[in-house]
Amino acid sequence: MTDRELINCAQAAMRNAYAPYSRFPVGAALECEDGDVVTGCNVENAALGSTVCAERNAVCAAVARGKRRFRRIAVCAESSEYCVPCGACRQVLAEFAPNLEVLCVRADGRYVSYRLGDLLPNVFGRDFL
Ligand code: THU
Repeated sequence: MTDRELINCAQAAMRNAYAPYSRFPVGAALECEDGDVVTGCNVENAALGSTVCAERNAVCAAVARGKRRFRRIAVCAESSEYCVPCGACRQVLAEFAPNLEVLCVRADGRYVSYRLGDLLPNVFGRDFL
């Protein structure tokens, strides 16, 4: 799958975002090692702290399907900025794929690619426990 196809999946998921409070819909598309793509969107809540980000919803959906090995994730928002994952999402992604490729997409479809290890260096991981 090309970067553009993965981004298209993230943008489709973004259209299902439930973001009435922030009005900041986010979509994520996680490419698994087996080639499957699992998507997520942000789901907000009136108890604002109960909101779940798009990336974490994608990871949880993938794990629930028995998938734990990931290659790439695309994250998009209707923003003029490239949409990077928040700190909590970086940590959750690093649990499964510390060197994941992260495509950060902005509203016009342009994107930048990072390695998760660069976005979250010196990660607290399973080796610490
Ligand atoms: N959001 C995500 O879905 N992913 C991120 O990495 C950053 C933030 C969501 C959470 C909230 O619904 C909205 O964007 C504004 O913070």
